[in-house]
Amino acid sequence: MSTISDEEAIATAAARLRSGGLVAFPTETVYGLGADATNADAVLSIYETKGRPRFNPLIAHVADLDMAEKLAVFSPLARRLAEKFWPGPLSIVLPLRPGHGLSDVATAGLDTVALRMPDHLIALALIRATGRPLSAPSANPSGKLSPTTAEQVTRGFAGKVPVLDGGPCQAGVESTIVAVDGETIIQLRAGALARRDIEQAFGLKVALAEQGAKISAPGMLLSHYAPNAHMRLNATPQPGDAFLAFGDAPDFAGETRNLSPAADLHEAARNLFSMLHELDGTGAKMIAVAPIPDEGLGEAINDRLQRAAAPRG
Ligand code: TXA
Ligand code: MG
Repeated sequence: MSTISDEEAIATAAARLRSGGLVAFPTETVYGLGADATNADAVLSIYETKGRPRFNPLIAHVADLDMAEKLAVFSPLARRLAEKFWPGPLSIVLPLRPGHGLSDVATAGLDTVALRMPDHLIALALIRATGRPLSAPSANPSGKLSPTTAEQVTRGFAGKVPVLDGGPCQAGVESTIVAVDGETIIQLRAGALARRDIEQAFGLKVALAEQGAKISAPGMLLSHYAPNAHMRLNATPQPGDAFLAFGDAPDFAGETRNLSPAADLHEAARNLFSMLHELDGTGAKMIAVAPIPDEGLGEAINDRLQRAAAPRG
C-alpha cells in the first residue's frame, strides 16, 4: 500500500474490481471502499467488510455523464446540476433507468440511485479502467470516522483491503446529497459542496429534507462517525479533556488540535476527521469541541460533529 497511483497500479486495481474484489480509492471528499456496482457479491462484501446495516444504499460513482445516463433518468434540472458541479462533491438521487444493471444490493432495493462523479484523477481513471460504475461508501468500519488518508484506511481494515494512495483528501467531508423533485432541489445530506453555492449558481432556495420525509437518505443514522471518546460540542475544555479548537482558541494545557486557527471553514472541513482521529488516538475519554459557525461548510461540519456526539447504540 505503497504509493501505487501509477497506471499499472490502476490496471491491477481495475482487474481486481472486475473480478469482484474490493479496492479502496481516494476521492476529493474521503476515501471510498469500492466494488463493481453491478456485481451483487462484490457489493455484499462491502457491507461485510464495513459491518454495515444492509438497508443502507450506496452511492454509485461514475466517470462521465454518459455512464450516469445509462443508470438513471435525468430531469433537465438534474442534468444542469451535473453539468455545473461534476466532477465534484455532489451526489444526485435520481430515478433508476430500466435496464440499469446495478445490483439491488447496491441500491438496497430502492427505485432511485445516488450518483456522483468524483473530482479526483485516480478515482476517475479507476472507474474508466474498470468500465463499470463503482459503489463506494466511505472506507471505514461502519459507525467509525471517515478516512481522509490511505494510512487510515489501511489501519481501519487491518491491511485487508488494497488502497490506492492519493495522499490526503482535499475536502475531508463526504459529498452533499440532493434529490430533485420537479423544480425543487432538496438537500438530503449536508456535505463538501455548500448549499449556498448551489443556491447561488441556480438562483433558487435549496429545500432541506425533513425527518421521515418522502425522500430521505436512509443512511443518516443518528450515531455515526463515532470516535471512541465521548464528545461535548460548543464546549470549553476541562482538565483531562482533549480539545478540538476552531479559530481563536482559549489557552488549554491538554491535547489540542485547531481545525483552523484562521477560522477558515474549508480548512476546518479538510482537517475534521484527521484531527478527530488524532485526538481519539490520545486515549482521551472526552473530546471538547469549540463552537463552529453554522454557515457555508460549517453546516456539514456541525452535522458530522452532532452525529459523532450522539448517544451510542
Ligand atoms: O463523499 C462521499 O459521498 C463518499 C465518497 C466515497 O464518495 N461516499 C459516501 O458514501 O459518503 P456513504 O455510503 O457513506 O453515504 C451514502 C449516503 C447514505 O446516507 C445513503 O443513505 C445515501 O447516500 N443514499 C444512497 N443512495 C440513496 C438513495 N437512492 N436515496 C437516498 N439516499 C441515498
Ligand atoms: Mg460513511
